[in-house]
Amino acid sequence: MKILTFNGSPRKKGNCSILLQELLRGAGDAGAECEEIWAQDLDLKYCRGCLRCNLLKKCSIRGDDWENLSSKILAADALVFASPVYFHHVSAPLKKILDRFRSFVHVQIRENGLVHTPWHTWKKDFVLLMPMGASQSAEAQPAVDLFTFITGILGDENRLHTVLGTRLAANRQVSMDREELGNLYEKLQLPGNLVEKDYYKNQEIIKICYECGKNLAMQNK
Ligand SMILES: Cc1cc2nc3c(=O)[nH]c(=O)nc-3n(C[C@H](O)[C@H](O)[C@H](O)COP(=O)(O)O)c2cc1C
Repeated sequence: MKILTFNGSPRKKGNCSILLQELLRGAGDAGAECEEIWAQDLDLKYCRGCLRCNLLKKCSIRGDDWENLSSKILAADALVFASPVYFHHVSAPLKKILDRFRSFVHVQIRENGLVHTPWHTWKKDFVLLMPMGASQSAEAQPAVDLFTFITGILGDENRLHTVLGTRLAANRQVSMDREELGNLYEKLQLPGNLVEKDYYKNQEIIKICYECGKNLAMQNK
């Protein structure tokens, strides 16, 4: 089985990367074939809204990485999108990719709204993995809604899994040991009694990511 991951963070060693590596470790241990993509490293143009994909059944933009990338997306059993929460949403490099997903569907305007019909049969696992600075995961709701929408229009049989990590404002915070976390919380003037609790919370999300990767690989065997 194939897993394609997208990392939408500009931090190469940030929270998204750490969590994604755990997911990949789990998937690798269960025998999955994985490929990692850095969203910001792609040579990708913005969707230009020409709507020609409605006729061509593919994106009309030529000369960038989309043709190659779209083949990989279609061939994958699971797609993992890791992004820091940026103003309640996914980061811009990831959104740029998601807008190009428009070319995977035919859209009709009807009196009651838009009707989306995918060009291909989709039966994939989607994972949305989002660390955030806030203490409440509701902070990521607009991004969760976006993924609920996209996975839904691409096919009823798609499955969406969300992994949301709270109170992760600093670089690499998710993998900090108690001492490092304690120093950080002192600097941030956060209550000291949160250190132990958050240390376990962070260990837990790392574990969840490993298990998520493993389950993806097992389910798609
Ligand atoms: C431009 C920017 C916007 C952000 N917006 C939010 C936000 O709306 N809500 C939130 O909880 N955290 C927000 N954050 C914090 C990040 O989501 C958080 O630090 C995350 O763990 C970063 O992940 P990374 O290390 O993989 O880049 C923002 C950070 C930046 C740089």
